Amino acid sequence: MGDTITITDDRNGRSVTVAIGPDGTIPSSALRQLDPGLRVYDPAFLSTASCASSITYVDGDRGILRHRGYPIEQLAERSTYLEVAYLLLHGELPTIDQLEAWRHEVSVHTYVHENVKHFMQQFHYDAHPMGMLVSTVAALSTFYPDAKQIFDEQVRAKQIVRLIAKMPTLAAFAHRFSVGMPFVYPDNSLDYASNFLSMMWRVAEPRFEVDPVLSHALDVLFVLHADHEQNCSTTAMRTVGSSHADPYSATAAAAAALYGPLHGGANEAVLQMLERIGSVEQVPAFIEGVKQGKGRLMGFGHRVYKNYDPRARIIKRTADEVFAVVGSNPLLDIALALEDVALSDDYFVERKLYPNVDFYSGMIYQAAGFPREMFTVLFAIPRTAGWLAHWVELLGDPAQRIARPRQQYVGPPARDYVPMEDR
Ligand code: ACO
Repeated sequence: MGDTITITDDRNGRSVTVAIGPDGTIPSSALRQLDPGLRVYDPAFLSTASCASSITYVDGDRGILRHRGYPIEQLAERSTYLEVAYLLLHGELPTIDQLEAWRHEVSVHTYVHENVKHFMQQFHYDAHPMGMLVSTVAALSTFYPDAKQIFDEQVRAKQIVRLIAKMPTLAAFAHRFSVGMPFVYPDNSLDYASNFLSMMWRVAEPRFEVDPVLSHALDVLFVLHADHEQNCSTTAMRTVGSSHADPYSATAAAAAALYGPLHGGANEAVLQMLERIGSVEQVPAFIEGVKQGKGRLMGFGHRVYKNYDPRARIIKRTADEVFAVVGSNPLLDIALALEDVALSDDYFVERKLYPNVDFYSGMIYQAAGFPREMFTVLFAIPRTAGWLAHWVELLGDPAQRIARPRQQYVGPPARDYVPMEDR
């Protein structure tokens, strides 16, 4: 007999024994067997597995991250973002021919309808690029009404290519708008990361010369951000997707979740924090403040990783490569000092707070010339592959239905309406 668990309802002595499934999960239906009115109260899903997934494996205690079984370290070193996107979506690494066909397909869908461009030009002059991205991705659903046919595999595949291909275009357009520069159209002869850099920075030169170190570093960052199982934005994607909304609307919802400072907005918050600290000398005082509850050490801590985030290790290496080309970021010394103090301080050690993926990524982006408002956008571009992989998995999973959690009602009991004059 395998591992089981027995739950006894002490109110009536009834009990149920269930097998402990993969990843230590037990079915909540066990509780319903005991009493259909029983519910698990689990705010923020600390102990709830909402789906079975074969995309990404995370072991937070041991600092392990794998996509479809492949360790993130190997993917970051030997693969490319588009190859990882293919892996996430199809379950296997592509052959040469499959990768070539995939690259070609993505590269010929990078252009957006001119009306999308006009739509983006109507934002307020100081619109945050992430707000523009969220809204424009949602607006794409009005350009591709066929996307509603979510159970037609071919239609679905087309929207996936469109989203992965157009995300960098929308991201770069959002930036160009915010600095009052004309939009640069995609150059489909460039690889994914280089084309994005060209749309970001090209001015009058006929062809943008991309620094290979920077474009490789960006591609590695894209690989590192491609998926991270059931995080807040992926959960948003799955929740909206479970109502059978089209993929553009679901992706917009996921991007909106990513916008928050506790999720994709964290690297922007890390830079703000480092600038506020101002110098290495101020680090101990800042750490004291954090320990007294006067704010958080941004870029530290993770719901799942209670060990060094494996992505943070790779990012640190990438940072060195980028800094060698563009010069170091003056905030790096403060970051290193913070990391040193935090990793040896009981407060952080006891709570297992280690640097997460965002601690260094913002410094790389800043050194590479990206404005701070673009940091979350730079996260949204690659995470689109992960969101879509989860969306496809959700639609093919017969166990899934529309997401609809229950609640613990703690409001007032039934009472009669009080007329205005009696209140
Ligand atoms: N600085 C200081 N203390 C912290 C931090 C931090 N960054 N993170 C957690 N803690 C403390 C909490 O105060 C709490 O202490 P307590 O037990 O004394 O009350 C304890 O550690 C547990 O924290 P929770 O908030 O319960 O942890 P949770 O899993 O809910 O939060 C989160 C995870 C949101 C990432 C949190 O660590 C945080 O706010 N970090 C800073 C923001 C950040 O870097 N986010 C990026 C996440 S990675 C990503 O999205 C790609």
